[in-house]
Amino acid sequence: MNAIGLSGVSKQFGRFWANRDISLNIGSGSIHAIVGENGAGKSTLIRMIYGLLTPTDGSISVNGHVVRFTSPRQAIAAGIGMVHQHFMLIPDLTVTENIILGDERSALFATLDRKQAARKIKTISENHGLEIDPAIPVSELSVGEEQRVEILKLLYREANILILDEPTAVLTPSETGQLFATLKSLRNNGKTVILVTHKLDEVLSVSDMVSVMRKGRIAATEQTSSVTKGDLANLMVGRNVLLRTENPPEKTGKLVLKVSDLQYRDARGRQKLNGLSFEISSGEIYGIAGVEGNGQSELLAMLWGMIEPGSATSGSITVDNITLSSKTPAEIAAAGVSLIPEDRLKHAVIGEFAVGENMIFGRHREKKFRRFGGFDTNSIRSYTNTMIERYDIRYDKQSNPSLSSLSGGNQQKIVLAREIERPGLKLLILAQPTRGVDIGAIEMIHKKIIATRDKGIAILLVSSELDEIISLSTRIGCIYKGAIRQEFSPEDVRKGRSSEQDFEKEIGMFIT
Ligand SMILES: Nc1ncnc2c1ncn2[C@@H]1O[C@H](COP(=O)(O)OP(=O)(O)O)[C@@H](O)[C@H]1O
Ligand SMILES: [Mg+2]
Repeated sequence: MNAIGLSGVSKQFGRFWANRDISLNIGSGSIHAIVGENGAGKSTLIRMIYGLLTPTDGSISVNGHVVRFTSPRQAIAAGIGMVHQHFMLIPDLTVTENIILGDERSALFATLDRKQAARKIKTISENHGLEIDPAIPVSELSVGEEQRVEILKLLYREANILILDEPTAVLTPSETGQLFATLKSLRNNGKTVILVTHKLDEVLSVSDMVSVMRKGRIAATEQTSSVTKGDLANLMVGRNVLLRTENPPEKTGKLVLKVSDLQYRDARGRQKLNGLSFEISSGEIYGIAGVEGNGQSELLAMLWGMIEPGSATSGSITVDNITLSSKTPAEIAAAGVSLIPEDRLKHAVIGEFAVGENMIFGRHREKKFRRFGGFDTNSIRSYTNTMIERYDIRYDKQSNPSLSSLSGGNQQKIVLAREIERPGLKLLILAQPTRGVDIGAIEMIHKKIIATRDKGIAILLVSSELDEIISLSTRIGCIYKGAIRQEFSPEDVRKGRSSEQDFEKEIGMFIT
């Protein structure tokens, strides 16, 4: 029996087809993964199943009956539930209260019999490994626990088909393991799970079936046991991709960045950095592994001169023995530091400007771009063309588009080209360098990072993708609650690369 069937389903936004002619069956009692690059159309597909969007063409059936949902309310009535990327819980209410509130049918009655509701929640959570204290307010829960409450909400109202959109993006490795155990337990009890993810290891470890989406279409649907990671990557991109970057032994040189005993409290008095120290030498990639929110943003802001170590705090940052504190971002750049920030549209580019303008943004005072006190447009154009070639940046050059119309991967390559090619570069800081970037571009960005390391630049890599940290770093520091709790030496990291699964678990112990 199929829990969900799609037949010739398409979805058009304006003139753009986000989903095209999708036919797909999702078997009842299975875990069906949907993978695809950013923008492939995964979210559009599940939003149609959940009634948040209506198809332009084609039909959807649930348990063999054709449906035409115009709102999630109807999908919920048909037994479908969705865990959103941003949780929708009320912080001041307890777990139990949040779960009851999520059940519209029984909201009126359940409040009358809280004890019974609490018992039902306890049974569900015990049966499926959803550990949680039902009596505490949601404001005291970790992100992973909040996600458990969202799943409990769906199970409490007896949803049979659960849809999760990138659920592991916010989880630690051990929480991810727990979530997958829960999903398998649900499957074993006859529930159907649709799991959207872009992480291929996750697909392989948890799903029964996998569909790959590319450019709005289904490129393939296969039994998971019959495909490899390489097969899936190739189907996603439509050509052969290298998953592991060639990473020959590293030679490291003299000390470049020294971060000592940083302390920082935010405006609300929370200790965000608590004795953070580490060093990076030239020709070395230092990877900071950790769950988001453990001080990474504050460290980056300090390195970039956006916040200074406060009065009640201590610590210092030096690059080549020059102290960075009280320097402005422009002065820091002039000292040979480049930053690829996490949110490129906010901090690294101007979306409305053209590619050439963005290529010299922040570097516009360099002599080679100037002529008679103004800009040398010929020189800027030819420099841009060289970079477009060197970094394989793809867009329609004839129409001279604004940067925001380029794909995430091509935007990121522009930032990378500009920052890596900065004259006098000593330290390159990378924050989530491949977030929102498609697999094909990730491969190329990783190669450029390694080539930069080989030129003797010191590199700081902050990423929440453990895969990326392990495959690129020379040394790894695990950040937790504002300090490096454990460092892995180049020998550890090299060994770890050959037994990646175990190494991820080992790192996981120090970041949670
Ligand atoms: N409401 C919308 N209006 C216009 N375009 C949209 C809308 N939602 C999604 N798209 C476009 O459809 C494509 C697929 O998006 P999405 O389904 O979110 O992909 P994915 O989840 O695989 O990253 C993207 O190019 C996106 O910009
Ligand atoms: Mg999506």
